[in-house]
Amino acid sequence: MEGGGTVSWMKYGSFVSLLVVLLALWFRSPQNAELDDRLDTVLSSLLRAERKVGMNNVARPKVAVGFGGCVDLIVDGVSLLNKIGLLPTEKPLHHDYLENAEQLSQSFAYFFAPGAAAERFMLNDTFFSELVEGARDLPGNRWSVGGNAPVMAGRMATEGCDVLLGGSFSPDFTDVLSQHITVAGHVVEEPDIHLILEYPSGASWGHYTSRRANRYIIHSDDHNPYLSSMEEFAAKLDNFRPDLLVVGGLQMMDNFPFQSGERDALLSRLADLLSSSSPQIGVHFEMASFVEESIMEDLLHYVIPHADSLGMNEQELPNLLSLLKGSNITVLSDPNPRVATVLDQMREVYRILNQRSKEGSEERDTDSAKSKPLTRLHVHTLAFQAMIVTRGSQWKNTMSATAKASLTANRHVCGSNDIDPTKARLIMDDSFSVSRREGSQRIPLQETRPVSCWDEDDYEICVAPVLVCTDVYQTAGGGDNISAAGLVLQI
Ligand SMILES: *[C@@H]1O[C@H](CO)[C@@H](O)[C@H](O)[C@H]1NC(C)=O
Ligand SMILES: *[C@@H]1O[C@H](CO)[C@@H](O)[C@H](O)[C@H]1NC(C)=O
Ligand SMILES: *[C@@H]1O[C@H](CO)[C@@H](O)[C@H](O)[C@H]1NC(C)=O
Repeated sequence: MEGGGTVSWMKYGSFVSLLVVLLALWFRSPQNAELDDRLDTVLSSLLRAERKVGMNNVARPKVAVGFGGCVDLIVDGVSLLNKIGLLPTEKPLHHDYLENAEQLSQSFAYFFAPGAAAERFMLNDTFFSELVEGARDLPGNRWSVGGNAPVMAGRMATEGCDVLLGGSFSPDFTDVLSQHITVAGHVVEEPDIHLILEYPSGASWGHYTSRRANRYIIHSDDHNPYLSSMEEFAAKLDNFRPDLLVVGGLQMMDNFPFQSGERDALLSRLADLLSSSSPQIGVHFEMASFVEESIMEDLLHYVIPHADSLGMNEQELPNLLSLLKGSNITVLSDPNPRVATVLDQMREVYRILNQRSKEGSEERDTDSAKSKPLTRLHVHTLAFQAMIVTRGSQWKNTMSATAKASLTANRHVCGSNDIDPTKARLIMDDSFSVSRREGSQRIPLQETRPVSCWDEDDYEICVAPVLVCTDVYQTAGGGDNISAAGLVLQI
């Protein structure tokens, strides 16, 4: 028995060594070596660009970030759905909010297959609790500090800022925050939980296969929609004297069952807060997944006119643009858009918002007279980072900031501060067109100078390729980490 086993093992063994040799040859093929070299060069060049500027201030810059926060329960999405016995639907369908299992199945399928980021409010408390219970003892689950504001605050504290964070948290939540973060808000006993259903590229659920790694978020908040920390935050703001004010987390108000007039009052209070801050202080608003048309209209009225800077992803950009052009909300857009498409959309958003701001100040009505021009627009996508920054505005170091945003995308998704080139891939093309207009210039991607910047009209555009992480640890919170990292070098 043993002898026979050895012989067949030896035969098998030599087959394996042959295979190893062949594989080695294949890996050393000139094409692959060239790809590896290219990636290494892009990485070292991006790192050089990031290091080119430090934070110039002698003191730590001060950033005030609102609103809210939650505890994220991160699970493998398909495992959770299988565990609770949710069958894949035959009919992917978009829902503004969720009420039962069937709607979750339809909504998840709708975004899972294209691999588009989505976030939905769950109106049914019973079902939400069942999902959370199911996720609690799912192997491989993780808890972490979540919500746009705490993630952005955390990233900025890590990058060397002092942060005032507006949010109402439980004591153990506050305990795990960086020592450079001061919380403004009251104490709550039961923090809001967000269920993060992550999935890798190529995951399958029934007959659906995901085209890229992403996440579907389910929330059913009690505290966050009311911006419950706003008064405490406002009270501490004057003394704190921030260099930058950042607002995010407003999507928790989307499709929330407010009493009539309640949301309006909250956003109007927020508008007062933003417009009463000193005009020299930059205001950044981080967009998110909004599907309720009326709240988008409210944002255009109460929030966006007071923002100097906007951050958003490839889904949120077409959504905002569509609304600005008087069309409907877009629920699902191409998750892998081309550079030219994104830049054209960015130019249009920039142009329309600045046009509105100009008209607003000419009208001189009390509300919009205070509206600020948009001087910075940052769009984060899977394959690249793009920024538009007005020339001569307060925002510095756009090239380095774009490089840092790009590196942060890999660091976040891979879950490691050191970038491992064997876990990265360049998916941006060798060259890109600056616009979809015919005859537009093409810009080659130069490995030694991967961030391309050029001037147009009154602004500068910078585009940097992302070293897309192939060994995904987490996608949720990526936009917040990326946006915050980009802002830090521009204060
Ligand atoms: C809420 O969820 C529970 C538990 O899954 C379900 O039995 C109930 O039908 C749902 N309610 C509505 C209004 O869909
Ligand atoms: C996002 O940034 C925060 C703050 O720096 C950090 O704690 C967190 O780990 C980052 N997320 C990931 C997945 O890397
Ligand atoms: C756009 O919105 C209007 C009003 O809500 C609706 O009647 C119409 O069907 C929508 N159009 C599309 C293409 O979704």
